[in-house]
Amino acid sequence: MLLSVTPLHGLILFSSVFVQIAGVKVIGHDTAVVYGENATLLCQLTETHQNADVTRIIWKKKTQENAEEKTFFSIRPGPKTEYSNGLGDRVQFIGNFTEKNGSIQLLRIGLLDDGIYTCIFNLFTVGTFETDINVTVFARPSNNVRGEVPVAGFTEATLVSCFASNAKPAAEVIWRLGDLENSLKTNTNYTMNSDGTVTVVSYLLGVPFKHLNKKNVQCVVKHNTVRDELVLNYTINIHYPPDSVVIIPDSPTNIKEFQCKVDSNPEPTNYNWTRVNKSDPFYEGKKLPVPNLTPDFNGLYICHASNQYGSSTGSLYVNVHNETNAVCWSLFCVFIAAFLGAVFLFVFIWKHKPEWIQVLQSSNDERD
Ligand SMILES: *[C@@H]1O[C@H](CO)[C@@H](O)[C@H](O)[C@H]1NC(C)=O
Ligand SMILES: *[C@@H]1O[C@H](CO)[C@@H](O)[C@H](O)[C@H]1NC(C)=O
Ligand SMILES: *[C@@H]1O[C@H](CO)[C@@H](O)[C@H](O)[C@H]1NC(C)=O
Ligand SMILES: *[C@@H]1O[C@H](CO)[C@@H](O)[C@H](O)[C@H]1NC(C)=O
Ligand SMILES: *[C@@H]1O[C@H](CO)[C@@H](O)[C@H](O)[C@H]1NC(C)=O
Ligand SMILES: *[C@@H]1O[C@H](CO)[C@@H](O)[C@H](O)[C@H]1NC(C)=O
Ligand SMILES: *[C@@H]1O[C@H](CO)[C@@H](O)[C@H](O)[C@H]1NC(C)=O
Ligand SMILES: *[C@@H]1O[C@H](CO)[C@@H](O)[C@H](O)[C@H]1NC(C)=O
Repeated sequence: MLLSVTPLHGLILFSSVFVQIAGVKVIGHDTAVVYGENATLLCQLTETHQNADVTRIIWKKKTQENAEEKTFFSIRPGPKTEYSNGLGDRVQFIGNFTEKNGSIQLLRIGLLDDGIYTCIFNLFTVGTFETDINVTVFARPSNNVRGEVPVAGFTEATLVSCFASNAKPAAEVIWRLGDLENSLKTNTNYTMNSDGTVTVVSYLLGVPFKHLNKKNVQCVVKHNTVRDELVLNYTINIHYPPDSVVIIPDSPTNIKEFQCKVDSNPEPTNYNWTRVNKSDPFYEGKKLPVPNLTPDFNGLYICHASNQYGSSTGSLYVNVHNETNAVCWSLFCVFIAAFLGAVFLFVFIWKHKPEWIQVLQSSNDERD
């Protein structure tokens, strides 16, 4: 140890009696620093009144790395610096010896640097003055959100996991669930890591009902190293077999294909088409091509859709009339129109029956 090998050792013991000299003290500032950044340890000896010379400024530490107090840096006039016990050139003197400013900087702070640092001024013939500086090392959490993709069902499952890993101190993890607030639960797990950091995992649990699929939730991470809260968006993903299957034509007038629309997650991996009581068409694919829509195409069409969880079917009854049918139909219309016209005429005539009959009768009378 640096102190034990120096001739000042005796003086230090002697001087400790005088530490209470009025007006003389060492001012230090506790500091908090984020892992990987540089820490500034400010230390200043206030006016001594005795105009005593500073012979040495010594820095000691008691850290996570080593709970035993050890000298790691000493500064002599010049200023000449001397390193010991490990920090090496990660320490820089940034003060001013003549101004009795003993400040230092610790570069690229590590988690093990967290601890109590002691700044000691040796004053010739007067003694030593010291102060403790707490250096707190924070570590930012690394965040991510991971979905579990459960299959729709009735047993509670983990839907989403939100991680705020390796933080010091532990991060706060909360959920913003909006409308789902009452239907989902959360459960938070804290794991202390060997380096003193904490990994927080917050689980979002719920019964994986189909309607939760595609709903958005937000995991919010708060930490004292980050000014704004961090929002991680996640879209819930619940798998389910094909539910409703409907067949729809691509156009209302000029049909070129029928499409099989399926509610499932994931999308069906297999589609096939059949026509009831017919061997053709048997077709595989999401869209059934319609070469031309003639009465030959008529029938009950079934679309089968499946994914890894199950299958379902939808049907459509197709009934087309061709060109000839249309001609027949118009002829039939002409016939009906003619028939209705005749009926109308007959009714009209019948309504004016009295005159006609009278005329007829009168003529009959005349004959009579
Ligand atoms: C820490 O200090 C070193 C040397 O002064 C400098 O190069 C580096 O950019 C500083 N790092 C940060 C995060 O300020
Ligand atoms: C001591 O030195 C540091 C680094 O240069 C500086 O930031 C600080 O203000 C100084 N202290 C005083 C009391 O001047
Ligand atoms: C230290 O302070 C003295 C007196 O204020 C000044 O003359 C000198 O330049 C300073 N040294 C450095 C390295 O800043
Ligand atoms: C500095 O650290 C010590 C020991 O952990 C503690 O007792 C003290 O309260 C701390 N000081 C401040 C200002 O946090
Ligand atoms: C919480 O963490 C512990 C230890 O890692 C683990 O055994 C436990 O299963 C976790 N709890 C949940 C709900 O995942
Ligand atoms: C998360 O969602 C919020 C609100 O819906 C939005 O403002 C924000 O930009 C989204 N963030 C990301 C990373 O998508
Ligand atoms: C299929 O054939 C069966 C038996 O011949 C008959 O009962 C059924 O109505 C037919 N279905 C269709 C859509 O033609
Ligand atoms: C058509 O699909 C259904 C559901 O995916 C499947 O059960 C059936 O075997 C398929 N038919 C043929 C002929 O591949």
